[in-house]
Order: sequence, then structure tokens, then C-alpha cells
Amino acid sequence: MHIKNLNQLYNTNMKYKIKDISLAKEGEKLVKWAKQNMPVLMDIRKDFEKERPLKDVKIACCLHVTKETAVLIETLLAGGAKIALAGSNPLSTNDAIAAYLASIGVETYAWRGNKNEYYWCIEKAIEIEPQITMDDGGDLTTTIHTKFPNLKIIGGTEETTTGVNRNRIMEKKGILKYPIIAVNDAYTKYLFDNRYGTGQSTIDGILRSTSLLIAGKNFVVVGYGWCGKGLANRARGMGAKVIVCEVDEIKALEAAMDGFAVMPVEEAAKIGDIFVTVTGNKHVIDANAIEKMKDGAILANAGHFDNEINVSWLEKNCIQKKEVRKNVTEYKMKNKKIYLLAEGRLVNLVAAEGHPPEVMDMSFSNQALVAKWLIENKGKLQNKVYKVPQEIDREVAKRKLKTMGIKIDRLTKEQIEYMESWKEGTWGKLLKK
Ligand code: NAI
Repeated sequence: MHIKNLNQLYNTNMKYKIKDISLAKEGEKLVKWAKQNMPVLMDIRKDFEKERPLKDVKIACCLHVTKETAVLIETLLAGGAKIALAGSNPLSTNDAIAAYLASIGVETYAWRGNKNEYYWCIEKAIEIEPQITMDDGGDLTTTIHTKFPNLKIIGGTEETTTGVNRNRIMEKKGILKYPIIAVNDAYTKYLFDNRYGTGQSTIDGILRSTSLLIAGKNFVVVGYGWCGKGLANRARGMGAKVIVCEVDEIKALEAAMDGFAVMPVEEAAKIGDIFVTVTGNKHVIDANAIEKMKDGAILANAGHFDNEINVSWLEKNCIQKKEVRKNVTEYKMKNKKIYLLAEGRLVNLVAAEGHPPEVMDMSFSNQALVAKWLIENKGKLQNKVYKVPQEIDREVAKRKLKTMGIKIDRLTKEQIEYMESWKEGTWGKLLKK
């Protein structure tokens, strides 16, 4: 059986803390579905099986434990790596996937609802003494830097904008202890994952938790970065009247010319029906905005941390709080009710399944190829934040197009020469003589 094959790739005494190992079969089914829809990563896995580029490399991962992550982990195992995995959010772990991974011998420390032992799980993953770290949001990197600074790490990767922002601050302050590759910043990551992935899965999370109609609603998107652009466009596609709130003049202008209403959050608060934060910033929906909201307003967050909406203010100022549906908390205020989805944590991962496998195919292909690249470049990098090498980014795009059956044009010799020349202009031919 499939599970046995993987055990051969990685033999260890079972080490895990998860919710329920008996969910492994259910997890295996979900992973199979993801695999069918992640053809690039599956191709890389085949290469890894032959080349074993990660032979005996120990990798500590702090990632959302989803079916797509399981496909990445299997690819790394196929490359010869030894993995310890912790969840990167207290509510985003799919317990069936965690069970599946534990059943194939991956050290897995993750369960949904893990609020008290979240950092304990990360520390358990660090016990593997990683040579590579794979982080989503920076909690693993921060824990290593603050509590385990003497580990000998070849390099790390970072999956999301918030994590990369933190890594860059660490570099600037001169405290980054090993090179980090900003996987988030690869074109084949953020242009698709942040934009289309977050766009679709955030709507998915809102629909699965509320079961309400999007059409005709005033849908407020706070933050018009890559995630915000994707979300605003998907909401518009479903018939919502989309309002964008921004602090960056250029992004605000872009939103306006993309055809969205743009206004400060306190103005949007008065008319919005659904609010989603995607900024990577703190308290972007704060008390002064919540106080102006209509009865029945729905709040959700798709940014990395759960501090984008001031939930503690809601907690302190409500008269009563109750769960009215799965992932929907009703806060009864003096004069209205406010609904918070997924406790203000990543709504797409808590109330839905996170990004679709087709986009994670690209993000995680970058992760796998970058892990291989880190080993190939061991000792050659400085303690800095690096971009994903262009050749990897292009390789992922090339392979993805191929799996989609899309062919593109190639530059002719004449065009290459022309693009490299500077003399040929309006009177090109004359100048050439
Ligand atoms: P980005 O940097 O491209 O965009 C963030 C935008 O928020 C910027 O345009 C910024 O000007 C704006 N912003 C900051 N403070 C604001 C405020 N107070 N009010 C209004 N706008 C404000 O970042 P990106 O890639 O869109 O990521 C956003 C967040 O989503 C990050 O925390 C990132 O880690 C997370 N993320 C979540 C994913 C998910 O699965 N839910 C997937 C990818 C990223």
C-alpha cells in the first residue's frame, strides 16, 4: 500500500502529537486528491526520487498542515530529507492530514485548536536540529533566533509576506543568523498564490461559514496588496459592490482605477456588510470603525496573524458572545450584533481548506527547488534575505504551462538581436547603414 512505500523513504520511531491517528485514512484520500492537482510538484518529486538531493538533510517546517503541505512533505521525503513539522497557526491544521503525515513517519506536532501548546510544537520540531528551516509567518525563525541561536543552519525559506517582512527587519538590524530565501517573493508564488489563491479561498471560507449571498453586498477589502487585489476581484465577480481601504497612495490609486470605491475604513464601516482584512498590519479594523458598523456586519481576516481586527476590543465591549454557526461568533453589543468569522484568524484556512492545490503546486514547487538549491549553495550565502533565483522561478512557470497544455511563442534570432541593439530607431534602416 502507498503508506508503506513512504515508510521505506523515512524510517523512524513514531514521534508525533496530533489529534487522532485513526484519521490517517481520511487524510490519505485528501492528499491523493491534492496530488492529482499538483502536477509540477509531482514531477519534481520524481526527479527527487532519482537524484536524492536532500539525502539526510534535516528540515524543520512550520507550515499550515493542509493536504497540499502533505504533498510538499512527501516530495522532500522523496528527496531524502528528514522532516519535523509543526502547524503555523493554532486553527489551520487539518487533523486528518496531520494523522496521515504521522502515519507515514513524519514527526508531526499539530492539531486544530492548539492554542496553549503552539510554541511547544515548534520547539519539538526544532529538536530535529534542522539544517534547513521552512517557515510560514516567521514563528519558527523567531523561536530559533531567540531560544536556539546556536543551531548550525544552512538556510531557511519563508512562505508568506508577513514572514518575509520580519526576516527583512532582522537582516536590517543585523540579527539574522542564517540566509533566508523569500519564497513568497517569487513571481510564481505571489502573483498566483497571494492573488488567486487568497482571492478564491477567502470567499470560500466566508461562504462555508456564513452560507450567505455575496451578490449585492457592500464588501470591504482592507489592504490592496496581492491578496487584496485577488479578493476584491473575486468579490466583484460574485456581484458584490466592493470598497477598498488603503494607506498607500499608489495602491489606493490602482484600486480606484481598477474600478473600486476607495475610502477610509471609518467611512466604509458605516456602509459595509462584509469586511475582510488582508494587510499584514495590526488593528486595521479598530474600535472606532467597529463602533460605526451596521447591525449584522460580518468581519473576517485573511492576513497572516489574528491581530488585524481588534478582537480583544470586541471581547471586552460585548454584552454577550456565542457561536451561532461553526466558525461564526456573534458579539452582542449595546445597539447591534457583529459577526466575527474564524475568530479573526485566516478565514480561508480555518473555515475552508486554504488555497486550491493548483496554486500551491507553484508555491510548493518553489519551496522544494529552493531547498535543493540551498544545499547546492551551502556555505556560499550570507546572513541575508535572498530572492528565489530567477532560474527556479522560470522553471516553475515553464513546467506549470506545460502541465496546463499551454504553448507560448519563442523569440526569433532577429528579435533577440533587435532587443539587444540600441541603434535601430525611427529611421532604423538609415542608422544601420
Ligand atoms: P502586500 O504587502 O502585497 O499588501 C498589504 C497591503 O496592505 C499594502 O498595500 C499596504 O499598504 C496595506 N495596508 C497596510 N496597513 C494598512 C492599513 N492600516 N489600512 C489599509 N491598508 C493597509 O501583502 P500581501 O501579500 O497582500 O499579504 C497580506 C497579508 O496576507 C500578509 O499578512 C500575508 O502574510 C498574508 N497572506 C495570507 C494568505 C492566506 O492564505 N490567507 C496567503 C498569502 C499571504
